[in-house]
Amino acid sequence: MKKVGFVGWRGMVGSVLMGRMLEENDFAGIDPVFFTTSNVGGQGPDIGRDIPALKDAMSISELAEMDAIISCQGGDYTKAVFADLRASGWDGYWIDAASSLRMADDAIIILDPVNLDVIQQGLEKGVKNFIGGNCTVSLMLMAIGGLFREGLVDWVSAQTYQAASGAGAQNMRELISQMGAIRDAVAPELADERSNILDIDRKVAEAMRSEIFPKEKFGHALAGSLLPWIDTQLENGQSREEWKGQAETNKILGRSSPIAIDGTCVRIGAMRCHSQALTIKLNRDLPLSEIEQIIGSANSWVDVVPNDRDETLKRLTPTAVTGGLQVPVGRLRKLNMGGEYLSAFTVGDQLLWGAAEPLRRMLRILLG
Ligand code: HSE
Repeated sequence: MKKVGFVGWRGMVGSVLMGRMLEENDFAGIDPVFFTTSNVGGQGPDIGRDIPALKDAMSISELAEMDAIISCQGGDYTKAVFADLRASGWDGYWIDAASSLRMADDAIIILDPVNLDVIQQGLEKGVKNFIGGNCTVSLMLMAIGGLFREGLVDWVSAQTYQAASGAGAQNMRELISQMGAIRDAVAPELADERSNILDIDRKVAEAMRSEIFPKEKFGHALAGSLLPWIDTQLENGQSREEWKGQAETNKILGRSSPIAIDGTCVRIGAMRCHSQALTIKLNRDLPLSEIEQIIGSANSWVDVVPNDRDETLKRLTPTAVTGGLQVPVGRLRKLNMGGEYLSAFTVGDQLLWGAAEPLRRMLRILLG
């Protein structure tokens, strides 16, 4: 059985990965070895069978015994060990949730329901580095991959509504603390039905702007507000998150002539589902029914929601989607700009298809 090393299995993405691997019985076909950066010799996770004590995630020689390594430890860890591990002559498969190696020429971005052909061609050519994509990009492609597959897309503008989980576990906690701090600031007024809403609003704004508002992680109020910048600032005016849209989409699809993708990425106060409003410029004026059929048949998880008010509010929200693998896409309609301009809205769980799921599926592909 193949020896598979796991690093970063205890963190948020790693825990979601462990949960999904147990649900799908993925450990049955492998010899799992768990690594740690802080608890060498300690006990690994409960996967229903005996496993060796935790090994040192910084030990190149112990890592080099693995046939494949899955890392959810983050980019700094990848930067710290990957080059040395390869330099030691290790020839195993490196599967990584972090972005550090994503755009490397010898790496493939994995999203097999969309790019199994690219993955398989890579395997045939001897590629050994398989990296999970940016969550927003992966979820956009899970939703409208059918349009790309049919060669129908001229360009896409994505306006995103990204959840706190994309910034990390501590940020999710801070979002909830912010919600609580807002509520606490006006608890007596809320309890009094006759209190003035403008007084409540003023107190809420004061609380959100105050020095003591919990904002160590986000740096600003997110609850009751939004943050229209995600990741670092690039010289061209884009945020790095916005830059990834075009760069990663085209790499995932294996395209040599890039399709333009751009928009504004915004953090909102959702927990773990990213949402996106998409404007898609098609190269043909197809009937909407045909477009729905193409989108809905692209993979087993995309779920076309009819452009109906009740259905939309029931099925196309972070609350409806959180914790699930389905990727609903709805609000499908032609825009006033013309028959080639399609509007769509999609929601997806950022920790599943946006992070953990492509990793476990890549392992399955490797094991054949
Ligand atoms: N960069 C994403 C975000 C998450 O901040 O929401 C990881 O892909």
